[in-house]
Amino acid sequence: MTSTTTSLPIIDLSPFLSSSSTPESRLKTAKELVQACHSTGFVYITNYGISQALLDEAFSWSKKFYSLSDEEKSYAAHPPDSKLFRGWSKVGHEMIPPLEGEKKEGVMDFTLWHGHDSNAAQPNIWFPESILPGYRDFVATFYDQCWSTSVPILRALSLGLLNDEEYLLDFHSNLENELSFRHYPSISESKVRSGELDRLGAHTDFDSFTLLWQDENAGLEVKVSGEGWKSVQAVKGALLMNIGDILSRWSNDYLISTLHRVHLPPVDDNYMGDENVRMTKPRYSIPYFVVPKSDKVLEPLEGYFGEGKDKKYEPTTYSELYHNRVDGIFRQDAKAR
Ligand SMILES: [Fe+2]
Repeated sequence: MTSTTTSLPIIDLSPFLSSSSTPESRLKTAKELVQACHSTGFVYITNYGISQALLDEAFSWSKKFYSLSDEEKSYAAHPPDSKLFRGWSKVGHEMIPPLEGEKKEGVMDFTLWHGHDSNAAQPNIWFPESILPGYRDFVATFYDQCWSTSVPILRALSLGLLNDEEYLLDFHSNLENELSFRHYPSISESKVRSGELDRLGAHTDFDSFTLLWQDENAGLEVKVSGEGWKSVQAVKGALLMNIGDILSRWSNDYLISTLHRVHLPPVDDNYMGDENVRMTKPRYSIPYFVVPKSDKVLEPLEGYFGEGKDKKYEPTTYSELYHNRVDGIFRQDAKAR
């Protein structure tokens, strides 16, 4: 197997969702969250306010979408000349340039991106309602729920980092975040193992932080300092949260944006077929990327530089950073496979 499983910190977010929680309990949770984001960059979060029934519904909609014909999915296709994270990208169309290892052909990854419907600068791409009646309304509801969960996380991070619950919240809104339904089709284990094919190459996320829900079909791995690639599997009742490049940069690298990828599962149940042609089972995941308001100037937070610690980054906006990062992700030469 490719990796062993790692255990990550588990943070109970409930003090930030309860109006009767004490300042002491909020501060304790905030400090624990920041410490986890400082040491591993990936944490499980429990009691975050989204029901299992809503999550089950989200995965169900995702599977319904990916069960459509390519012709039907193409109504929402990502425009060939667009650098925006919107619409459906077929296999091979979207590839994050890997930060480690070689760029491989045959990356197996379908994505469907959505933003807030009021974001005129980055309009959503919808297929006709008749193809999946109710889908669009559900996405709007789920997108708002993801933001409702992000607010207490922002408050906790802000309190833990700066002793000020509001500071980071003021830099974010629910307008520019991105929700993605992902499908990793069944893939040959031997072709991944030999390096002929890949699923999602090693990368860091380009946001403040990411919320991730994944099904039981593992494959996500994080690079643990001094230990190498470790599998991170779904934990019932917990979401997975990881720090992205923006918050890492903002904290002058105090919080860690950890390298991760989607590779082979370490669990036999996640495969099908016989040993000679073992295939992974299809995997579904749902990330929600929380980004700062695009025009806000970001510079290293007070207290995280000075007294022997260099200020590593110049002030800039997310908008400027974003345009440098997205080049090369959407491939014009992609072939359907
Ligand atoms: Fe990622």
